[in-house]
Amino acid sequence: MQITISPRPVNSKDVTVVTLVAGTENFLQVRPGNRKVLSIGIGEREKMTRRKLVDVCRQVIALAKTHHGKKLSVSAADFVFPHLGIPEGELAEMLAVNFEMANFSFVKYKRRPAEGWDFVQSVTVVGRVSPEGKRGLKRGQVIGRAVNDCRTLANTPGGEITPSGLADAAVQAVRGSRVKVTVLKPADLRTLKMGGILGVSKGSTEEPRFVIMEYLAGGDSKPIVLVGKGVTFDSGGLNLKSEQGMADMHMDMSGAAAVINAVAVAARLKLAVNVIGIIPAVENMPSGSSYHPGDILRAMSGETIEVVSTDAEGRIIMADALTYARRYHPRLVVDVATLTGAVMVALGNRAAGIFSKDDALLKQFQELGELSGDYVWPLPLWEEYEGEIKGTLGDIANIGKTRYGGAIHGALFLQHFAKGMRSIHVDIGSRMTAVDGEHLAKGAAGAPVRLLVKLLERYR
Ligand code: BES
Ligand code: MN
Ligand code: ZN
Repeated sequence: MQITISPRPVNSKDVTVVTLVAGTENFLQVRPGNRKVLSIGIGEREKMTRRKLVDVCRQVIALAKTHHGKKLSVSAADFVFPHLGIPEGELAEMLAVNFEMANFSFVKYKRRPAEGWDFVQSVTVVGRVSPEGKRGLKRGQVIGRAVNDCRTLANTPGGEITPSGLADAAVQAVRGSRVKVTVLKPADLRTLKMGGILGVSKGSTEEPRFVIMEYLAGGDSKPIVLVGKGVTFDSGGLNLKSEQGMADMHMDMSGAAAVINAVAVAARLKLAVNVIGIIPAVENMPSGSSYHPGDILRAMSGETIEVVSTDAEGRIIMADALTYARRYHPRLVVDVATLTGAVMVALGNRAAGIFSKDDALLKQFQELGELSGDYVWPLPLWEEYEGEIKGTLGDIANIGKTRYGGAIHGALFLQHFAKGMRSIHVDIGSRMTAVDGEHLAKGAAGAPVRLLVKLLERYR
């Protein structure tokens, strides 16, 4: 989608004029000369909130698509709500990000309809736009497109994106930038003694990969390390999932997809930071060579993991990735994973769960969540829960002893391997797919690319 700026109204019958009006109804008027005006009811302007505004931006595109409006114009002034106090650059970014996100749907495997797709081709923002506003629009487009690239990658079927395919996608995403990508293969993983990743991948005919992305533009500051779970398909392994449970498990690499695209954005926006993306990539499959329930794996840290369930595979591969992260002496480690279904039980589908021993960090993430639109909510990481994952025959068990608080058990397991580093765990099991009411296409939600980008922009 093209986003352009015009100081005066566009005078063309091909352009649908979109206006924000009081009231709650949306309607399309065709005025003399076949000029289309699409009105979106946003209620009382004084009652607008930041969250609602995100939604309004998306509705502009979503409604235009249903009316087959391909070229739109909006008035910049319509989106200014003084009581929200959003700086112009930030507002422009919000507009562009959400226009792009709402304009996306995953059509790669669909036949093109005779009348073509309904995508919006261009939006003209009418009004006086400051240099900050212009930069915000550009930045927003870069971010919005990266969110959509993340969604495309996550939506791509498991038969197509294998661990080596995921590694290729990481290389592709940063091609031509100054990001250095290293892809480790099984022999390298054996040298590093990554018994977790090697153990989980045993059942698959697809070899594991370990991807390291390095973007170093922050001088001699310590890096931020982002770790993304890259399970390209999670069948559950020998603890096979049910038909319902296995649906969508090609998206179990959503954390990896988010990390890849956040690093790509850092490079495209030339952010002055040091950031390392780490992606353990495996396929979790049942077969004669699978790891078994009861197996005891030796992780890279030297500790043993008692595999109680082969379906709690994400934390096992993340354990090795977190151990690997130590060599960077990071100032912050953020891990992003579709780790549990339990986080969805706790939070529903509107927020990702965040877990950290550092309360200030939790607070900062909540703020970044509000700023970016990738909402997050803290859950406890208390030591009272630690008994749940104490190993019987190994050092640590990969699931809790009770069924309750599964998201916390997973988070505590990761915390064990992140000990001593400043770290935060983001469980996006609840934000893997978009839900009704978000004005986004069905499928992957693209969380939390926006939050990670804000973090890289602002974290000091
Ligand atoms: N990838 C799943 C978690 C998941 C499920 C994310 C549904 C998003 C939607 C993870 O590997 C898993 O299987 N977790 C188990 C853990 C259990 C065995 C302790 C779960 O949540 O059921
Ligand atoms: Mn699983
Ligand atoms: Zn999984």
